Amino acid sequence: MKRVSFAQFGGPDVLQLVDAEEPHAGPGQVRIAVRAAGVNPVDWRIREGQILHAHPIALPSGIGLDAAGVVDEAGDGVEGITVGDKVFGEGSNTYAEFAVLSAWARMPEGLSFEEAAGYPSVVETALRIIDQVGVRPGQTLLVSGASGGVGSAVLQIARDRGIAVIGTAGAGNQDYLRGLGAVATTYGEGWAERVRQLGTVDAALDLAGSGVLRELVELTGDPQKVVTIADLGAPEFGVRFSGVAGSVQDALAAAADLIARGRLHIPVEKSYPLADAAAAHIDSHAGHTRGRRVIVV
Ligand SMILES: NC(=O)c1ccc[n+]([C@@H]2O[C@H](COP(=O)([O-])OP(=O)(O)OC[C@H]3O[C@@H](n4cnc5c(N)ncnc54)[C@H](OP(=O)(O)O)[C@@H]3O)[C@@H](O)[C@H]2O)c1
Repeated sequence: MKRVSFAQFGGPDVLQLVDAEEPHAGPGQVRIAVRAAGVNPVDWRIREGQILHAHPIALPSGIGLDAAGVVDEAGDGVEGITVGDKVFGEGSNTYAEFAVLSAWARMPEGLSFEEAAGYPSVVETALRIIDQVGVRPGQTLLVSGASGGVGSAVLQIARDRGIAVIGTAGAGNQDYLRGLGAVATTYGEGWAERVRQLGTVDAALDLAGSGVLRELVELTGDPQKVVTIADLGAPEFGVRFSGVAGSVQDALAAAADLIARGRLHIPVEKSYPLADAAAAHIDSHAGHTRGRRVIVV
């Protein structure tokens, strides 16, 4: 089969489309014929060798965590899924013709493979951090960097739970945030004052890691009401850095339910063929993805 692989850590040009041995489903896993793979910032962080502590890998390695496709092998102990089922989920080396998933759910009716591949990691992250920040229905959540993959999921899950959101994004994404039910304002010079004018904030999430933790603590009045997924300076401000994934299986079930109820939609910003994985990484690294970028197999 073909897969995207890299033999050394480095820039996007280390990614090569190569012939590789097909993987097989171990106990509790399924193998899918991949139709699309989601591109997450963590993918290029792994490729650069930035986060070996959290994602230790031996080179050469495949790449990619999220995917959607058709089950063609089920490992020992797998129940409730059969060959031919369309699923989306999380596994390893998903930028490939075949990949093994360790967590999956059936794709909701009407969802394309391309769309489905964009959900797993962002929904797991969004559910985890909304719970960790402790925001309740009727309260107001501030989301810094709200238009990306995780932000798109946070805004819609919050709306579903009756949590009001103030979101920051670039000038071109203000209407996008409003369309997801948030009150929108721009990041950059004077942003905290603009947020203050919009009302009080009960809790805050930093999704961009743009050096705003001091202001988020001031706006909420309590470092325990702030969670970041992208700023390693969190301890300096007494803020929680959330980096350990929760249950992907539960998140996928929740995503499938939200999608089926018409409460969650993560748009695909752009699709790339398997051979153009490097371009997908370059575009993701630029930091202005609306929704998710996806590799189509
Ligand atoms: N710790 C964890 O468990 C975990 C899990 C998932 C993701 N992450 C990290 O969290 C970050 C977000 O992930 P993602 O998948 O949502 O990324 P993404 O889809 O690439 O989105 C990034 C967003 O950041 C916004 N942005 C760029 N510069 C900004 C600034 N100065 N201030 C505020 N927002 C800004 C962009 O908005 P505009 O386009 O509107 O400018 C863009 O929508 C990444 O760094 C990723 O590595 C961590």
